Amino acid sequence: MSPFRITRILPEDATDAALRADVLAGLTGSPRTLPPKWFYDARGSELFEEITALPEYYPTRAEREILAARSGEIAAASGARTLVELGSGSSEKTRYLLDALTGLGAYVPVDVSESALEGAGRAIATERPGLEVHALIADFTAALELPDTPGPRLLAFLGGTVGNLLPAERSAFLTSVRAALAPGDTLLLGTDLVKDEAVLVRAYDDAAGVTAAFDKNVLAVINRELDADFDLAAFDHVARWDPDREWIEMRLRSRTAQTVKVQSLDLAVDFAAGEELRTEVSAKFREPGVRAELAAAGLDLVHWWTDPQGRFALSLSTVR
Ligand SMILES: C[S@@+](CC[C@H](N)C(=O)[O-])C[C@H]1O[C@@H](n2cnc3c(N)ncnc32)[C@H](O)[C@@H]1O
Repeated sequence: MSPFRITRILPEDATDAALRADVLAGLTGSPRTLPPKWFYDARGSELFEEITALPEYYPTRAEREILAARSGEIAAASGARTLVELGSGSSEKTRYLLDALTGLGAYVPVDVSESALEGAGRAIATERPGLEVHALIADFTAALELPDTPGPRLLAFLGGTVGNLLPAERSAFLTSVRAALAPGDTLLLGTDLVKDEAVLVRAYDDAAGVTAAFDKNVLAVINRELDADFDLAAFDHVARWDPDREWIEMRLRSRTAQTVKVQSLDLAVDFAAGEELRTEVSAKFREPGVRAELAAAGLDLVHWWTDPQGRFALSLSTVR
């Protein structure tokens, strides 16, 4: 087995303070919102893995097709000795890159989910003798502090997770990614593409109800961590396409007029019947927009690959 290390960049109390601040701001704001990173406790990470196998959820399969076909080209273009992966989750598709990057010495998965990092990081360290695996429990929206491993680095951000950031957050995020990279490093970015509304909505509202359970998991996290009394059965999962902003919104709709108490915040939140709480935005992209957002952050898009059906794209960018 290779060396496996897991470092908590986020102290437990910082996570607690961040959750409290996000829940207070999100539940008292109008409209009500919650940031998607709080879905991912151990149960949320498991539910996300179930989502990736659903017949309706095409992004994982489409991105895997691109990685299977293009990892050799990605490896040749990046020449990376360190692979950093943000929001790595199960690192399942990452194995195509790990196989192709023959000169790789270190893999640095970064995620807020400790359970996902423990599972995936240990498995990869066991499978790949000679590869140093250094997992970071960290929030990728904060300044990125990467361990001192050999360059060049390939920084991968897969799964279309970048679409979960709002436009201003995305711009700040890409700027911080650029700041963490050195000349010769590259960014591999997975972006889901604009397509037929019915296909998009089904991907976020599957027949088996797994995405609904994932969506409601954020309420279970708040119940447990902040001593709240959300009744999960009193909310319906809703997925809606916003054609102007070209994003899917996941929301939880209150079935009745109800008051939810969040004891740790000394907060009582009144929901009207039918009132919605936005839990996730998932932006869908077009090539010119991705290129422009990268360029604004000082990154030059040099490769754009899609799956044969044109559902999903991977782009490779260099540091300007
Ligand atoms: C949509 S899933 C994608 C997982 C995997 N990359 C894939 O392609 O299947 C998003 C991942 O990012 C992690 N995540 C979400 N917000 C995060 C944040 N702010 N900082 C670090 N990780 C985050 C989640 O725990 C989850 O593993």
